[in-house]
Amino acid sequence: MRLISALTTALLSVTTSAALAQDAGKVEYMNSCVICHGENGKGHGSLTKLLTVEVPDLTQIAARNDGEFPMLSVIHIIDGRTRIRGHGDPMPIWGQRFKEASAGLGSYESELLVRGRVLALATYLEGIQE
Ligand code: HEC
Repeated sequence: MRLISALTTALLSVTTSAALAQDAGKVEYMNSCVICHGENGKGHGSLTKLLTVEVPDLTQIAARNDGEFPMLSVIHIIDGRTRIRGHGDPMPIWGQRFKEASAGLGSYESELLVRGRVLALATYLEGIQE
């Protein structure tokens, strides 16, 4: 019985933190990504008129990858380890931008914050797959 309740608590906390990460990711998304990727992730943000590169539909990432959401690749695209045309010069690399935003913190805290923000964004994108 005790084991079951411990398991339930553990499961609940996992679900809660996933939900929290999704909420935080949505806030980040609305702040930084909507302008190009659009509110629903399908592209058509207001800046797209000025872009020469096509903005991909972010709700179809899993569908384009045989139904599996490529979490690690998406993290690397967001933090800039995988350079893509739309996020590179002159557009910001998000990992770098988040790092600059946490400049007042120590390097460990800053690294945690940057990773947290990138992970929240990736979790949010995973949640909007169709
Ligand atoms: C200035 C416009 C712009 C902004 C702002 C922007 N993106 Fe992008 N994004 C693009 C373009 C353009 C591409 C496609 C680039 C290419 O094909 O090389 C892209 C591609 C992506 C991809 C790869 C999708 C795929 O299927 O390959 C992901 C993931 C992504 N963006 C996430 C984000 C996130 C998360 C944010 C906000 C933190 C963001 N983008 C902000 C323009 C933007």
